[in-house]
Amino acid sequence: ATGRLLDRLGRPLTDLRISVTDRCNFRCSYCMPKDVFDKDYQYLPHSALLSFEEMTRLARLFAAHGVRKIRLTGGEPLLRKNIEALIAQLSEIRTPGGEPLALTLTTNGSLLQRKAAALAAAGLQRVTVSLDSLDDAVFRHMNDVDFPVADVLAGIEAALAAGLGPLKVNMVVKRGTNEQEILPMARYFRDHHGGKVVLRFIEYMDVGATNGWRMDEVLPSAEVVARIGAEFPLVPLEPSAPGETAQRWAYADGGGEIGVISSVTQAFCHDCSRARLSTEGKLYLCLFASAGHDLRPLLRGTATDEDIGSAIGHIWQGRADRYSELRALRGPDSGEHDANDPAPRRVEMSYIGG
Ligand code: GTP
Ligand code: 5AD
Ligand code: SF4
Ligand code: SF4
Repeated sequence: ATGRLLDRLGRPLTDLRISVTDRCNFRCSYCMPKDVFDKDYQYLPHSALLSFEEMTRLARLFAAHGVRKIRLTGGEPLLRKNIEALIAQLSEIRTPGGEPLALTLTTNGSLLQRKAAALAAAGLQRVTVSLDSLDDAVFRHMNDVDFPVADVLAGIEAALAAGLGPLKVNMVVKRGTNEQEILPMARYFRDHHGGKVVLRFIEYMDVGATNGWRMDEVLPSAEVVARIGAEFPLVPLEPSAPGETAQRWAYADGGGEIGVISSVTQAFCHDCSRARLSTEGKLYLCLFASAGHDLRPLLRGTATDEDIGSAIGHIWQGRADRYSELRALRGPDSGEHDANDPAPRRVEMSYIGG
């Protein structure tokens, strides 16, 4: 299985995103709204979760198929007990060419101050931190658990100090909620870190089925770029890798770069090279899929590595997903949630990771 694996649209498989827990200590309204993710919500039971050994076995087989980068996600991945042990196991994997994998993690930053040094020591290379506002009141409201912004900022500093940089900070922009924070965020990360932090603005997406997504709450990335560019002139940069989610812009004065992730207004499915593994071992070929391919029975049955590797190959070869492009073709607001919609429920972001 060393030939280049391509899906039905000719896209290679280069990125694997592994969700290590479906739980989170935040309740961001665009992801885990409190009224749905309440005390009665049924999270995955412990027996359903893949063990670190099972995840590592799959990761090794994905690497044989061309995966070069693994991103750990959640929920909040730092809530998974002893995540450092998983990172240490994953860092042993080599590509067919003998290279280690790029190993990264997306976190809300709440536990980063406590964990950054141990994560780096285990072999994590970089982190991406989600941060929607620098204003404490706005931030506490958006995470909806009254978590203070100062702790996340301290987590970012701890990550940089531990060598987990250059790091990316992701801000989901919701019109009417945190759009006034775009410029303060841009100023802060320009001035304070001399190019070691890349701030990226994410269009609020119609992912999942519970966040009540509406097109009029999406602030198009073009507008983000225009607002920042009016204060700090920006010049476009070339993509650093094919299949990249973000379009990059540099500050003309040399103050570093920003990115915009525009899955609503400018879909990037044409070279999407990402597969997603859920905490219970289902392989999803798109963030917007309603069903995954269950690999856990293979892991817990008598299947050999070769059997599982060839199953993964067949699944990827059958892939034709391009949800964001199709939604754009149907009309910009066609992703709006409709309680009466008979379509199968899309998987939640907290289940599959971002
Ligand atoms: P880098 O490769 O390091 O730039 O990271 P990334 O952009 O792949 O990962 P990150 O977790 O930072 O992703 C940022 C956000 O982009 C996610 O939280 C999602 O909101 C969005 N995103 C990532 N991958 C996809 C994708 O395949 N499709 C869509 N529609 N959105 C995605
Ligand atoms: N739209 C855009 N981004 C989202 N994220 C979670 N839900 C959404 C959504 N509806 C982002 C988080 C984090 C990453 C894991 O996914 O802010 O950066
Ligand atoms: Fe948790 Fe991230 Fe979802 Fe917010 S966006 S609820 S921090 S998983
Ligand atoms: Fe990839 Fe699906 Fe996102 Fe398109 S919508 S970029 S196919 S994950």
